Amino acid sequence: MIDSIPPVVPPGRMRALRQPEFDLPHGMRLRPWAAPRDAPALVDCFLDPDIRHWNRPSRLDLPGAEERITRFHERWQAEEAAIWAIAPATGGPALGLIGLADLDLPGGSGEILYWLLPAGRGTGVMVPATTHVTRWAFDDLGLHRVRITHSVANPASCAVATKAGFPLEGTMRGALLHADGWHDEHLHARLRTDYPG
Ligand SMILES: CC(C)(COP(=O)(O)OP(=O)(O)OC[C@H]1O[C@@H](n2cnc3c(N)ncnc32)[C@H](O)[C@@H]1OP(=O)(O)O)[C@@H](O)C(=O)NCCC(=O)NCCS
Repeated sequence: MIDSIPPVVPPGRMRALRQPEFDLPHGMRLRPWAAPRDAPALVDCFLDPDIRHWNRPSRLDLPGAEERITRFHERWQAEEAAIWAIAPATGGPALGLIGLADLDLPGGSGEILYWLLPAGRGTGVMVPATTHVTRWAFDDLGLHRVRITHSVANPASCAVATKAGFPLEGTMRGALLHADGWHDEHLHARLRTDYPG
């Protein structure tokens, strides 16, 4: 960013914030990832054909998954990404992930990504999870713009983005390589000035 424009989010602000937790409907909760309890979810996400196809996760064994969880916390401290587990509030292991990644803190933007293991699907929990992360991104972190992108062939993700208040801005042609080839991607985004709404 050029010197005459101050950073939207100054360096150090994110690492000074404690990662918050949020209650979700259906007895679920957004909380930081914890090892070893949540490591199996990161192994299992690669085994699920839908997550493997749409999110393109790495294949991990349990030690690798524990390292990945350590990396999630390092990435918060490095102000690179904010990654939450979606898990039963009673303390059970993670059933899903929602994160704010591709952070450009000087430019004030980031991208939400998410997945749920099959056991976590069908209750609508990802819409309020997206709303909590978005409010945090605007109110606490201070971003200006948050986006969600997904293949045009993934209507469930499109429904989550739209219901969470991210209007469709357009279609990016040939934007992401999946196992079956290049996919056009929908771009949804929300501005801080859209909130609340
Ligand atoms: C995307 C995902 C997080 C959505 O979570 P979910 O619990 O399955 O979603 P819900 O059951 O709450 O459904 C959300 C909306 O999508 C709709 N939907 C779900 N599956 C659908 C499908 N296959 N086709 C069309 N609409 C679908 C639902 O009807 C619902 O809309 P409604 O509330 O208006 O009825 C989850 O399906 C998932 O993790 N999928 C695999 C990985 C993935 O797609 N990740 C996103 C990459 S961008």
